[in-house]
Amino acid sequence: MNILWSRCLVIVALLLLAGPGHGAEEEAARSLRILVFGATGKVGTYVVDEALQRGHVVTAVSRDPASIQKQHQNLAAVRGDLLDVDSIASLAAGQDVIIISVRGIIGKSKNPENALQRIAVEKVVDVLREIGDAAPRLIHVGGAGSLEVRPGVLYADTIPKLFLPKNIELEIQGQILALEYLRAVTNVEWSYATPAKDFTNGERTGVFRIGGDTALEDTRGRSRISRADFAVALIDEAENAAHVRERFSVAY
Ligand SMILES: NC(=O)c1ccc[n+]([C@@H]2O[C@H](COP(=O)([O-])OP(=O)(O)OC[C@H]3O[C@@H](n4cnc5c(N)ncnc54)[C@H](OP(=O)(O)O)[C@@H]3O)[C@@H](O)[C@H]2O)c1
Repeated sequence: MNILWSRCLVIVALLLLAGPGHGAEEEAARSLRILVFGATGKVGTYVVDEALQRGHVVTAVSRDPASIQKQHQNLAAVRGDLLDVDSIASLAAGQDVIIISVRGIIGKSKNPENALQRIAVEKVVDVLREIGDAAPRLIHVGGAGSLEVRPGVLYADTIPKLFLPKNIELEIQGQILALEYLRAVTNVEWSYATPAKDFTNGERTGVFRIGGDTALEDTRGRSRISRADFAVALIDEAENAAHVRERFSVAY
């Protein structure tokens, strides 16, 4: 047997030892189990698509799971309600990351404490505390109203109230309260992801900036991000945990 043949045999033996499906096993090891509340929403649908595209296993939550038409081998559509702690607890167990991307006002109260976003973070944090060390991380989709436009001034403070629907005003305030609530949470791994002021239906470019508490603007003074690119930033955070117990913002 010449040297060339013996080298070939060694390579074949190494490949056999590595075994078939090695790449698939590596991919499975990297893949996260991600629970998405608000999976039917305008933002949530992009989040589900982005996570699936990257090989993650997604549990998409809706109060009406039949409305989730998408079919994918890594996707399960399930019933769940953020107002029901038992429902959250049963879905949270065994997940790596929970994403909350929801909207709504509970009841007729004019109190922003009753914005779904504010109620949801508290209920989910309660569940995560109960789970303890094995708890998934939480990524909450926040609101641009909580961003500073100049030191000490929130964007929410600058929005003219005259033509702003009351529900929207309450949700904006509810998102500010959700951030305040999370900032006092030290024993759960949370992140508060804030989009730019304007969400667009633009395409996924994968090119955007990550900021902090101050609203980022592009060279034309616009604060924008497409829902598709915002979803990229959310799944980046799910994978990298770069902003644990922090707010981060996403804009072009
Ligand atoms: N520039 C900004 O700052 C800006 C602009 C827009 C939105 N946002 C934020 O982006 C996030 C998503 O907004 P969106 O436009 O995608 O909302 P959306 O299209 O109105 O969707 C709302 C979602 O909330 C879910 N939901 C409502 N009540 C629920 C409950 N009790 N339990 C579980 N899920 C519930 C709905 O699910 P089902 O009906 O299927 O149950 C639906 O998927 C929100 O946090 C919003 O504040 C920020």
